[in-house]
Amino acid sequence: MKRFAITSFGDAEKVFQEIEAAPRELTTPRHIRVAIKAFAVNPYDIAFRKGEMSPKRLPNFPYVLGKDAAGIVTEIGEEVTQFTVGDPVIIHPVGGAYGEEIVLPGHKAVLKPENMSWAEAAGLVTPGITAYHLVTHFLKPPPKTIVMIQGASGSVGSLLVQLLKQLDVVILASASSANKSFVEALGVDRFAAYDKEDVGAAFLNQADIVIDATKGGRTSTSGMAIMKTGGTYVALNRLPEEHARTKSGIYRQFGPSPEYDDAEALRALSHLFANQQLHINIAQIFTPTLETIVQSHHLLEGHPPNGKLIFEW
Ligand SMILES: NC(=O)c1ccc[n+]([C@@H]2O[C@H](COP(=O)([O-])OP(=O)(O)OC[C@H]3O[C@@H](n4cnc5c(N)ncnc54)[C@H](OP(=O)(O)O)[C@@H]3O)[C@@H](O)[C@H]2O)c1
Repeated sequence: MKRFAITSFGDAEKVFQEIEAAPRELTTPRHIRVAIKAFAVNPYDIAFRKGEMSPKRLPNFPYVLGKDAAGIVTEIGEEVTQFTVGDPVIIHPVGGAYGEEIVLPGHKAVLKPENMSWAEAAGLVTPGITAYHLVTHFLKPPPKTIVMIQGASGSVGSLLVQLLKQLDVVILASASSANKSFVEALGVDRFAAYDKEDVGAAFLNQADIVIDATKGGRTSTSGMAIMKTGGTYVALNRLPEEHARTKSGIYRQFGPSPEYDDAEALRALSHLFANQQLHINIAQIFTPTLETIVQSHHLLEGHPPNGKLIFEW
């Protein structure tokens, strides 16, 4: 089976390699085998490939990236009761999804709704899990809370808007002017374009909670201006340095945690999608080749089009 691996940390065009791997045995009776139909590329993959995650995790090279995918169950371990062969599933492995097949623990898969495409299923995983846990477990905003989302056009940001819309909160949002109509259609209460106006001034001192969902945490100055004194500032990336904090408040970084149940998140999001209450934005679907994998990493390293980059077999 075909897989795309990195042979070391470094530039995409230097380190990616196509490999022909032998199928793995099911590791335990609780594992399943999935024929991958689609997988997604994430900003995390870029950071990992560059070696920026290396202090936390040193891989054995060649290493196959990919945490977000969907496919069909082709084999189940003896103790797996929740799936049968042929089930369509959304999967969230620790890595290894850039390929044709994967073996993973059954608890890292959930059934895919019938009305969800393979591309949407793969595109949902990391952004959806992030947005769900942030809203449902981390913030739990009370009614009438005013929440500002910076990067509301992004994969995480657009899902944050939609999940917050299910609650009785006020949503302020920013993104580029090119994505104004997309973000407004998600139902935000007010929008400001960072390339047309000073977003910090537009929403000065208005938000109880500010979420920086931009890539690289580019908006901390305006975010702190928008936060009410004593409010909450959440970063998906970097928090502003302590000495640079212009306002008192609660500054919290959000990231994956073993406290949260990712399968619960995927089931809840699938339920919303099945009821047509969730939109997953796809920018582009590629056929997986060494060239397109490298191309997708180059795209994500820059300012990519609005939506997920997906590979479909
Ligand atoms: N901590 C976690 O658990 C976790 C999980 C998932 C993702 N993340 C991180 O969250 C970030 C967002 O991920 P994503 O997949 O949603 O990325 P994405 O889809 O590329 O979205 C990036 C967002 O940033 C906005 N943006 C780009 N340049 C900007 C600028 N100069 N000023 C203001 N906004 C700007 C984009 O708006 P326009 O396109 O409209 O310009 C877009 O809304 C990434 O850095 C990722 O690593 C963290």
